[in-house]
Amino acid sequence: MYSEIYPHDITVDELKALPNVKGVVIYGGPNHIVDGERIDVNPGIYEAGFPVMSIAHELAKCEEAYNTWEEALPHLKTFVFDTCHAEANWNMKNFVADQIELIRRQVGDKKVLLALSGGVDSSVVAALLIKAIGKQLVCVHVNHGLMRKGESESVIEVFKNQMDANLIYVDATERYLTKLDGVADPEQKRKIIGAEFIRIFEEEARKLEGIEFLGQGTIYPDVIESGLGKSATIKSHHNVGGLPDYVDFKEIIEPLRMLFKDEVRKAGLELGIPEYLVYRQPFPGPGLGIRIIGEVTADKVRIVQDADYIYREEIAKAGVEGLGQYFAALTNMRSVGVMGDERTYDYAVALRAVNTVDFMTAEAAEIPYEVLNKVMSRIINEVRGVNRVFYDLTSKPPGTIEFE
Ligand code: XMP
Repeated sequence: MYSEIYPHDITVDELKALPNVKGVVIYGGPNHIVDGERIDVNPGIYEAGFPVMSIAHELAKCEEAYNTWEEALPHLKTFVFDTCHAEANWNMKNFVADQIELIRRQVGDKKVLLALSGGVDSSVVAALLIKAIGKQLVCVHVNHGLMRKGESESVIEVFKNQMDANLIYVDATERYLTKLDGVADPEQKRKIIGAEFIRIFEEEARKLEGIEFLGQGTIYPDVIESGLGKSATIKSHHNVGGLPDYVDFKEIIEPLRMLFKDEVRKAGLELGIPEYLVYRQPFPGPGLGIRIIGEVTADKVRIVQDADYIYREEIAKAGVEGLGQYFAALTNMRSVGVMGDERTYDYAVALRAVNTVDFMTAEAAEIPYEVLNKVMSRIINEVRGVNRVFYDLTSKPPGTIEFE
């Protein structure tokens, strides 16, 4: 079933102008009292001629009113199919086919530029655009050198080698290390990483001619956040701090703007993207830059990449499932240890794994002790420069998921 979310102040005219509306569900919820005032929809909505169901909204007068979601749920199907006469014809196959057609019409014989980070959203947009317009899509993948181990390689393998995309790969590792040299403050690191990304993307865009469209992996939660109905402004928290607004694009293409994350994943599978890419855990734009406490150096990047790779490998081998996010980070702490007959003075790696529903709150996950022990022993033995491994038990709040 296809549905869209609108703010309470949508007018009757706006509602009527939407194509193919079969019915309206009004949800009040605990947040419909603002500054002591109860917020209601425009009263005309109730008389606009659409079937209306209200949930947790005592101001509604309509016939079909329920106090809670739990109360409403058993009646939802009857409301949607019998009262509204809606049809269950919205599925991923149709969505993908429709979007391909729409993109072809919108783009014509022009070109689209896309920053392909390798995250789920940009990967699915890329696959959709490749299916729709093939080589008229130009993907730019910037490796800031703060990717997880093997990440950029898998982007190249899947998109360039398997899907035959027009992919520009920019290895900016050295450039980032130079920019980040001596910088220890977390906010400053984030700013440098974001600003440099914009500069690189702009340099690449300038080299290309006749690009009229910019593709973006905006998804429905971003659209809701940035004010419904308006085209989402360039997604600032995505892909390292947004894209330059002085690169002159005629239009933005956001084929996923009506999808929630689980639907984006389904679209990805429909488009033939490998499961390991579709189900990958979130990875922050600034990458390992915020998983290395303090100054970033090539050696610290190597340590955290190798430790993280071992951790992921062992979690996969042990079949631990349901983790929201898990990774290795490099603390800035060095301590004394022994290795053979030698005294060492090396870094401590911290392992983190959380269970979370929405990433706003999180609990440290209960990874089986044998798995943690195996990861610890492999990291100590295989990653030079580490002599201690910690497991972070902190929940969010008070901690955050990332370390910086
Ligand atoms: P925190 O550390 O704030 O993280 O508990 C919550 C979620 O957001 C991700 N995260 C980021 N993602 N750019 C991103 O694209 C960022 O700067 C950033 N900081 C945190 C984090 O990985 C987790 O999923």
